[in-house]
Amino acid sequence: MKYFLDSAIIEDIRYAYENWAIDGVTTNPRHIMNSGKPLLTVLGEMGSEFEGVENFPISVEINPHLDDAKKMVIEGNKIAKLSSNFVIKIPCTEQGLIAAKEFEKEGIRTNVTLVFSPSQALQPARIGAKFVSPFVGWKENSGDDTSQYIQDIVNIYKTYNYETEIIVAALRSGKQIVDSAKAGAHIVTCGFDVYKESFYHAFTDYGLDKFRKAWDNTATEKAMAK
Ligand code: E4P
Repeated sequence: MKYFLDSAIIEDIRYAYENWAIDGVTTNPRHIMNSGKPLLTVLGEMGSEFEGVENFPISVEINPHLDDAKKMVIEGNKIAKLSSNFVIKIPCTEQGLIAAKEFEKEGIRTNVTLVFSPSQALQPARIGAKFVSPFVGWKENSGDDTSQYIQDIVNIYKTYNYETEIIVAALRSGKQIVDSAKAGAHIVTCGFDVYKESFYHAFTDYGLDKFRKAWDNTATEKAMAK
């Protein structure tokens, strides 16, 4: 399963790429705002950071105020021209789906986002969107059961051989990453701290402490250190 970083902070993206081998990046207007930099500055940084790196998709969301497919296509084309790694992130509305169909026809890859049900996930696959982003965290926060929802999307895609890749989004824990893997999702996208915490287990520290004490009390090791 691929790991994308959900962030627009270039230092975090660079760290995660160099040290964790992340496979791509997703952004949204909130991440851009949190970076504290203007949109075009952030896009410029990300574009040049990964210039020449193949197969490293960076999802960039179009202006969320746009509610007309034609306007979305005009704006998305401008974003796509900035970097060959940019994927146009489009909301899963009727107009968004019309725009996504047009982008894919033009060879511009799309990530249909803000998906909350299997019925919403069908149309992006039918029109050949490169990615679809079903959200988990927001649904769970609102009390929805998410245990079957990703699995259903995976099963439907397999049944019809849809090639759209499923990015499970808005994940908050290692358990949700594992649940996504168990369901057979292609990709998860998480914040920096969610990945960091997923690498950790208290028993690893407990075990390390035991092994360090043993190491320090091993005569052969003392001999080796000479
Ligand atoms: C996914 O592509 C979104 O950018 C992201 O997961 C949105 O949710 P969050 O910022 O609440 O995690």
